[in-house]
Amino acid sequence: MSTLTVSDQHVTPAAGKVIQPAWVRAMHWTNALAMVLMIMSGWQIYNASPLFNFRFSHSITLGDWLGGALLWHFAAMWLLMVNGLIYLITGFAAGRFAKKLLPITPAGVISDVKAALTFKLAHDDLTRYNYVQKLLYAGIIVVGIVIVLSGLSIWKPVQLQWLTALFGGYDVARYVHFICMSLIVAFIVVHVALAVLVPKSLRAMIIGR
Ligand code: HEM
Repeated sequence: MSTLTVSDQHVTPAAGKVIQPAWVRAMHWTNALAMVLMIMSGWQIYNASPLFNFRFSHSITLGDWLGGALLWHFAAMWLLMVNGLIYLITGFAAGRFAKKLLPITPAGVISDVKAALTFKLAHDDLTRYNYVQKLLYAGIIVVGIVIVLSGLSIWKPVQLQWLTALFGGYDVARYVHFICMSLIVAFIVVHVALAVLVPKSLRAMIIGR
């Protein structure tokens, strides 16, 4: 019988502080790749039957046409779902979510937003998230779960009709799917901008220290 042990060590005595354990970094970059593929192929799928009065430029879409985009979307879906499930299971098993993302208090969020707006938010200890980060990271995990569930409900609206009904029907689920995509894109823009503006955090995410 094998035992799965998950380590969430943040400090290695020899090398100093480790910001993100290796398994988190591996899953983060796998997720980043899967997300980019899902977003670009999703935009091509959208173009075939737009929900709004605009289309995405062909230069930023993946799959060339509806059929090709759906193939990309469903291929990357497995990467996203398998990686996401392992991430959630290890995150809970290692107690990482509880330790890094909780508690989130309204007072803490308000005070950190104020500190950020007045450029007083400290970034010296990257192993600890501030309240805004906690809220955004916890929020984006929830959005990630909702986009997968809404995606499944529009993929299999007959087999998973209870799920489609939970979203308020196929049409609503499509809008939910699109809104989640927009939130993820907005998150990525802010996330990448901050990683570039706070160079230590980019380094931490890529090489771990
Ligand atoms: C495992 C998860 C997912 C499944 C099963 C899935 C499934 C689908 C399906 C079946 C469609 C076609 C909808 C239609 O025919 O109108 C679609 C569209 C789309 N997907 Fe996903 N998807 C998933 C995850 C994602 C993710 C992670 C993103 C982006 C972050 C994304 C972005 C989009 C976009 C932008 C569209 C076009 C929206 C529309 O016009 O309806 N999807 N998805």
